[in-house]
Amino acid sequence: MKIERRELLRLLSVSGAASLLGLKAFRSQAQCLTTPDILGPFYLPGAPEIAQLAPDGAPGTPLFITGTVYANDCESPVPNAKVDVWHANDGGGYEDDHYRGIVLSDGNGQYAFQTILPGKYLNGAQFRPRHFHYKVSAAETELTTQVYFEGDTSIPTDPWASSPEAAERIIPLSEDAQGNLHGVADVYLDVEPLINSQEDPERYPGKPVIRHIIPNPIVEEGKVQVYLPEAASTSLQIFSLQGKLVASPVRGQIRAGGIQEWNIRVENLHGLKLQPGIYIMRLLVNGLPADAKRFIAGR
Ligand SMILES: [Fe+2]
Repeated sequence: MKIERRELLRLLSVSGAASLLGLKAFRSQAQCLTTPDILGPFYLPGAPEIAQLAPDGAPGTPLFITGTVYANDCESPVPNAKVDVWHANDGGGYEDDHYRGIVLSDGNGQYAFQTILPGKYLNGAQFRPRHFHYKVSAAETELTTQVYFEGDTSIPTDPWASSPEAAERIIPLSEDAQGNLHGVADVYLDVEPLINSQEDPERYPGKPVIRHIIPNPIVEEGKVQVYLPEAASTSLQIFSLQGKLVASPVRGQIRAGGIQEWNIRVENLHGLKLQPGIYIMRLLVNGLPADAKRFIAGR
């Protein structure tokens, strides 16, 4: 079953059964930039614009990745960035015609794709850890990098994944009730913020959106920034990947149109810290679901 990018984004954003990945990037301005990694020998230019990288029925564990491409101010989403991804199949082999694809970030910087968990392959005598290769480009800037997964036992012996530079590109994966894996991989590109959304109504044609949730992961407290086309009663709710409401950090606050922000603590309805993992932040405007974005609650 082929899923269009827009449909996949919708499914990932709205359903409780999906998740995103976020590189642990936000520290302070300019320090947030995602670090590069080697290109490797298996890149092929001209990958198809598809959001489903694995062929139908491919062996392996289904994996859903979402993320946001941000500019070098560490908080402005980059729309229409090109995210070129390639990875090994379940057996650790690269294929010319599969496990490759280009997805474009949407108007709010968000991208998504689905595939299977990449296999490991030998590099000399050592297995390389499971990884995605990324080439991310926007505004004539291109970043070549790789994304790894927490807990991979091959990371310590891999010269690239074990580099201090890669630490922020090792992302956690969470499993849903169906056994699918989910990750959130945000990318911070060294490009200037392209558009000031408050001065450019074309960026958000009348639609409320969550602009960012930072840092990602949130350990204790983070910032949620929202764009509202007009004044509205606004709520933020946090759901688990299983679709359970776990927190309601903002309840029906009246806010003016434009960019609005809240500092939120990652606590459940009982005031206890959320278990580490992937959660879905839902924005409600005048009582109706308006947008959703995944984030990671860290340790
Ligand atoms: Fe590779």
